[in-house]
Amino acid sequence: MIRRMQLADVKPVAEIENEAFPRPWSQNAFITQLAKSSSICLVAEIDGGVVGYLIATQYVEVWHLLDLAVHVRYRRHYVATELLENFFELTGRDQHRGYTLEVRKSNRGAIKMYESFGFICTGLRKGYYSDNAEDALIMWKDSEDMLA
Ligand SMILES: CC(C)(COP(=O)(O)OP(=O)(O)OC[C@H]1O[C@@H](n2cnc3c(N)ncnc32)[C@H](O)[C@@H]1OP(=O)(O)O)[C@@H](O)C(=O)NCCC(=O)NCCS
Repeated sequence: MIRRMQLADVKPVAEIENEAFPRPWSQNAFITQLAKSSSICLVAEIDGGVVGYLIATQYVEVWHLLDLAVHVRYRRHYVATELLENFFELTGRDQHRGYTLEVRKSNRGAIKMYESFGFICTGLRKGYYSDNAEDALIMWKDSEDMLA
């Protein structure tokens, strides 16, 4: 089940985050996003437990996908796919230009997943990630309006 993130979800979400990323967001970073009216924070729940989450925020008419992760034990079961589908349903009818995100160049699984949703690589941020100076791919997806 996909639902809006609540304050009580921040702890389990941060635990998944800590396992998923070398430079994880703090609990406060999630709380900040929860408080922003321009952000969408979703969690995926299985058997009453949080197994994944998605954070996105809108500015300058563009949705920025800031954070997305799934608990290791639940990967490759379409949890991220469901989170993304839900996010596109929520934002599909908004007036906006499209969606963007940054992803590590080496994160082939995530890149493949984003491409399957229509994201394309539009640029590179050299040495973007501070832990290992890895490059980030900038990905972009037009809004449905732009495609019409
Ligand atoms: C990337 C991530 C969110 C994917 O979550 P997930 O729930 O496992 O993804 P899904 O099951 O919805 O995958 C959908 C499709 O994406 C592709 N995909 C996802 N993960 C993949 C992987 N590790 N290797 C290859 N392809 C992958 C596949 O095409 C998959 O479909 P398939 O299983 O039928 O082949 C998850 O691996 C994760 O949390 N990684 C660590 C954090 C991270 O990298 N987040 C993204 C930062 S930009």
